[in-house]
Amino acid sequence: MRKIALYCAVFVFLAGILGAQENKGGLQAILNHYAARNFVSGEINRGDLDQILQAGIRAPSANNRQPWLFTVVQTTALARQIVSNNEDGNVLIVISAEGDGKTNGRQILDCALAAQSIYLAAQALGYGSRIYTGPMDSINRNLKTQLGLPNGHNAIVLVRVGKVQGNVDALSAASSRAAAGSKVQYK
Ligand SMILES: Cc1cc2nc3c(=O)[nH]c(=O)nc-3n(C[C@H](O)[C@H](O)[C@H](O)COP(=O)(O)O)c2cc1C
Repeated sequence: MRKIALYCAVFVFLAGILGAQENKGGLQAILNHYAARNFVSGEINRGDLDQILQAGIRAPSANNRQPWLFTVVQTTALARQIVSNNEDGNVLIVISAEGDGKTNGRQILDCALAAQSIYLAAQALGYGSRIYTGPMDSINRNLKTQLGLPNGHNAIVLVRVGKVQGNVDALSAASSRAAAGSKVQYK
Protein backbone atom coordinates (compact mmCIF):
# COMPACT_ATOMS: atom_id res chain seq x y z
CA MET A 1 0.00 0.00 0.00
CA ARG A 2 2.83 2.36 0.94
CA LYS A 3 4.58 1.48 -2.32
CA ILE A 4 1.49 2.40 -4.34
CA ALA A 5 1.21 5.72 -2.49
CA LEU A 6 4.89 6.38 -3.21
CA TYR A 7 4.49 5.58 -6.93
CA CYS A 8 1.45 7.87 -7.06
CA ALA A 9 3.40 10.70 -5.41
CA VAL A 10 6.31 10.27 -7.86
CA PHE A 11 3.85 10.21 -10.80
CA VAL A 12 2.13 13.41 -9.63
CA PHE A 13 5.52 15.09 -9.10
CA LEU A 14 6.79 14.16 -12.59
CA ALA A 15 3.49 15.16 -14.21
CA GLY A 16 3.81 18.53 -12.45
CA ILE A 17 7.32 19.06 -13.81
CA LEU A 18 6.28 18.07 -17.33
CA GLY A 19 3.21 20.33 -17.11
CA ALA A 20 5.34 23.24 -15.97
CA GLN A 21 7.77 22.65 -18.85
CA GLU A 22 4.85 22.58 -21.30
CA ASN A 23 3.66 25.92 -19.93
CA LYS A 24 7.14 27.35 -20.33
CA GLY A 25 6.98 26.15 -23.95
CA GLY A 26 3.90 28.36 -24.38
CA LEU A 27 5.78 31.33 -22.92
CA GLN A 28 8.73 30.70 -25.25
CA ALA A 29 6.40 30.93 -28.27
CA ILE A 30 5.26 34.35 -27.01
CA LEU A 31 8.73 35.67 -26.18
CA ASN A 32 10.52 34.36 -29.29
CA HIS A 33 8.01 35.18 -32.03
CA TYR A 34 9.03 37.22 -35.04
CA ALA A 35 7.25 38.42 -38.15
CA ALA A 36 8.49 36.00 -40.80
CA ARG A 37 10.04 37.41 -43.98
CA ASN A 38 11.62 34.21 -45.23
CA PHE A 39 8.53 32.27 -46.36
CA VAL A 40 9.10 29.36 -48.72
CA SER A 41 6.66 27.17 -50.63
CA GLY A 42 5.28 24.01 -49.03
CA GLU A 43 1.99 22.65 -47.77
CA ILE A 44 0.66 23.27 -44.29
CA ASN A 45 -0.47 20.07 -42.63
CA ARG A 46 -4.31 20.05 -42.44
CA GLY A 47 -4.33 19.09 -38.74
CA ASP A 48 -1.95 21.96 -37.97
CA LEU A 49 -4.13 24.40 -39.91
CA ASP A 50 -7.17 23.24 -37.92
CA GLN A 51 -5.30 23.87 -34.65
CA ILE A 52 -4.15 27.29 -35.82
CA LEU A 53 -7.75 28.21 -36.66
CA GLN A 54 -8.89 26.86 -33.30
CA ALA A 55 -6.50 29.33 -31.66
CA GLY A 56 -8.37 32.13 -33.45
CA ILE A 57 -11.78 30.73 -32.62
CA ARG A 58 -10.71 30.40 -28.97
CA ALA A 59 -9.56 34.05 -28.73
CA PRO A 60 -11.21 36.32 -26.16
CA SER A 61 -13.69 38.97 -27.32
CA ALA A 62 -15.74 41.70 -25.63
CA ASN A 63 -18.86 40.10 -24.11
CA ASN A 64 -17.74 36.92 -25.89
CA ARG A 65 -19.40 38.25 -29.07
CA GLN A 66 -16.89 36.51 -31.39
CA PRO A 67 -17.57 39.00 -34.19
CA TRP A 68 -15.05 37.47 -36.60
CA LEU A 69 -15.19 35.36 -39.70
CA PHE A 70 -11.99 33.57 -40.72
CA THR A 71 -11.63 33.21 -44.48
CA VAL A 72 -8.81 30.84 -45.37
CA VAL A 73 -7.29 31.70 -48.74
CA GLN A 74 -5.43 28.69 -50.12
CA THR A 75 -5.59 29.41 -53.85
CA THR A 76 -2.24 30.83 -54.94
CA ALA A 77 -3.69 33.16 -57.59
CA LEU A 78 -6.17 34.74 -55.18
CA ALA A 79 -3.60 34.90 -52.35
CA ARG A 80 -1.17 36.74 -54.69
CA GLN A 81 -3.81 39.36 -55.44
CA ILE A 82 -3.68 40.12 -51.71
CA VAL A 83 0.02 39.59 -50.88
CA SER A 84 1.99 39.68 -54.12
CA ASN A 85 4.96 37.58 -52.96
CA ASN A 86 2.81 34.83 -51.42
CA GLU A 87 4.47 31.45 -51.94
CA ASP A 88 2.65 28.26 -53.01
CA GLY A 89 1.18 26.63 -49.92
CA ASN A 90 1.26 29.80 -47.77
CA VAL A 91 -2.21 30.41 -46.42
CA LEU A 92 -3.78 33.81 -45.80
CA ILE A 93 -6.32 33.88 -42.98
CA VAL A 94 -8.43 36.99 -43.57
CA ILE A 95 -10.33 38.11 -40.47
CA SER A 96 -13.45 40.15 -41.15
CA ALA A 97 -16.25 41.56 -39.03
CA GLU A 98 -19.34 43.68 -39.42
CA GLY A 99 -18.70 47.40 -39.75
CA ASP A 100 -16.60 49.61 -41.96
CA GLY A 101 -13.30 48.29 -40.62
CA LYS A 102 -12.30 51.73 -39.32
CA THR A 103 -14.79 52.89 -36.72
CA ASN A 104 -16.00 49.58 -35.26
CA GLY A 105 -13.41 49.75 -32.50
CA ARG A 106 -14.53 46.82 -30.38
CA GLN A 107 -14.67 44.44 -33.32
CA ILE A 108 -11.26 45.64 -34.48
CA LEU A 109 -9.78 44.89 -31.07
CA ASP A 110 -11.44 41.46 -30.97
CA CYS A 111 -10.17 40.60 -34.45
CA ALA A 112 -6.68 41.82 -33.52
CA LEU A 113 -6.61 39.44 -30.56
CA ALA A 114 -7.73 36.56 -32.79
CA ALA A 115 -4.99 37.52 -35.25
CA GLN A 116 -2.39 37.45 -32.48
CA SER A 117 -3.57 34.02 -31.30
CA ILE A 118 -3.35 32.65 -34.85
CA TYR A 119 0.06 34.27 -35.38
CA LEU A 120 1.48 32.73 -32.18
CA ALA A 121 -0.15 29.32 -32.64
CA ALA A 122 1.39 29.03 -36.11
CA GLN A 123 4.86 29.75 -34.72
CA ALA A 124 4.34 27.39 -31.80
CA LEU A 125 3.73 24.67 -34.41
CA GLY A 126 6.96 25.54 -36.24
CA TYR A 127 5.54 27.64 -39.12
CA GLY A 128 6.31 31.23 -39.99
CA SER A 129 3.56 33.80 -39.63
CA ARG A 130 3.09 37.52 -40.23
CA ILE A 131 0.22 39.91 -39.51
CA TYR A 132 -0.84 42.30 -42.32
CA THR A 133 -3.17 45.29 -42.36
CA GLY A 134 -1.64 46.91 -45.48
CA PRO A 135 -3.85 44.99 -47.97
CA MET A 136 -7.16 45.77 -46.16
CA ASP A 137 -8.19 48.76 -48.32
CA SER A 138 -7.61 46.83 -51.51
CA ILE A 139 -9.46 43.74 -50.18
CA ASN A 140 -12.42 45.82 -49.08
CA ARG A 141 -12.55 47.75 -52.36
CA ASN A 142 -11.99 44.91 -54.81
CA LEU A 143 -12.08 41.40 -53.38
CA LYS A 144 -15.00 41.07 -50.97
CA THR A 145 -17.11 39.11 -53.46
CA GLN A 146 -14.25 36.77 -54.43
CA LEU A 147 -13.58 36.16 -50.74
CA GLY A 148 -17.28 35.56 -50.06
CA LEU A 149 -17.42 38.05 -47.19
CA PRO A 150 -20.97 38.40 -45.81
CA ASN A 151 -22.92 41.61 -46.49
CA GLY A 152 -21.81 44.34 -44.09
CA HIS A 153 -18.46 42.67 -43.35
CA ASN A 154 -15.10 44.30 -43.95
CA ALA A 155 -11.68 42.73 -43.66
CA ILE A 156 -9.87 43.97 -40.54
CA VAL A 157 -6.55 42.10 -40.57
CA LEU A 158 -4.98 38.99 -42.05
CA VAL A 159 -2.38 36.50 -40.92
CA ARG A 160 -0.07 34.80 -43.39
CA VAL A 161 1.06 31.33 -42.36
CA GLY A 162 3.59 29.22 -44.19
CA LYS A 163 6.76 27.26 -44.17
CA VAL A 164 9.95 29.22 -43.54
CA GLN A 165 13.63 28.60 -44.13
CA GLY A 166 14.84 26.72 -41.10
CA ASN A 167 18.09 28.61 -40.68
CA VAL A 168 16.70 31.86 -39.25
CA ASP A 169 16.32 31.77 -35.50
CA ALA A 170 13.95 34.02 -33.62
CA LEU A 171 16.58 36.25 -32.05
CA SER A 172 18.41 37.08 -35.25
CA ALA A 173 15.16 37.48 -37.20
CA ALA A 174 13.19 39.74 -34.88
CA SER A 175 13.58 43.52 -35.03
CA SER A 176 14.78 45.15 -31.83
CA ARG A 177 12.29 46.31 -29.20
CA ALA A 178 12.41 49.31 -26.86
CA ALA A 179 13.86 48.62 -23.44
CA ALA A 180 11.29 47.68 -20.79
CA GLY A 181 12.30 50.78 -18.81
CA SER A 182 10.85 53.07 -21.49
CA LYS A 183 7.63 51.10 -22.00
CA VAL A 184 6.60 49.96 -18.52
CA GLN A 185 5.80 52.12 -15.53
CA TYR A 186 4.92 51.15 -11.99
CA LYS A 187 2.79 53.30 -9.70
C1 LIG B 1 -1.33 45.44 -36.77
C2 LIG B 1 -0.15 45.01 -37.60
C3 LIG B 1 -0.16 45.29 -38.96
C4 LIG B 1 0.92 44.88 -39.76
N1 LIG B 1 0.86 45.08 -41.11
C5 LIG B 1 1.87 44.67 -41.90
C6 LIG B 1 1.79 44.84 -43.31
O1 LIG B 1 0.81 45.33 -43.86
N2 LIG B 1 2.85 44.42 -44.07
C7 LIG B 1 3.96 43.84 -43.50
O2 LIG B 1 4.88 43.47 -44.23
N3 LIG B 1 4.04 43.64 -42.15
C8 LIG B 1 3.04 44.04 -41.34
N4 LIG B 1 3.10 43.83 -39.98
C9 LIG B 1 4.29 43.17 -39.40
C10 LIG B 1 5.14 44.16 -38.59
O3 LIG B 1 5.87 44.98 -39.46
C11 LIG B 1 6.06 43.36 -37.64
O4 LIG B 1 5.24 42.64 -36.76
C12 LIG B 1 6.98 44.27 -36.83
O5 LIG B 1 7.82 45.00 -37.69
C13 LIG B 1 7.84 43.49 -35.86
O6 LIG B 1 8.62 42.58 -36.56
P1 LIG B 1 9.42 41.40 -35.80
O7 LIG B 1 8.47 40.70 -34.93
O8 LIG B 1 9.98 40.53 -36.89
O9 LIG B 1 10.48 42.03 -35.00
C14 LIG B 1 2.04 44.21 -39.18
C15 LIG B 1 2.02 43.94 -37.80
C16 LIG B 1 0.94 44.32 -37.03
C17 LIG B 1 0.94 43.97 -35.56
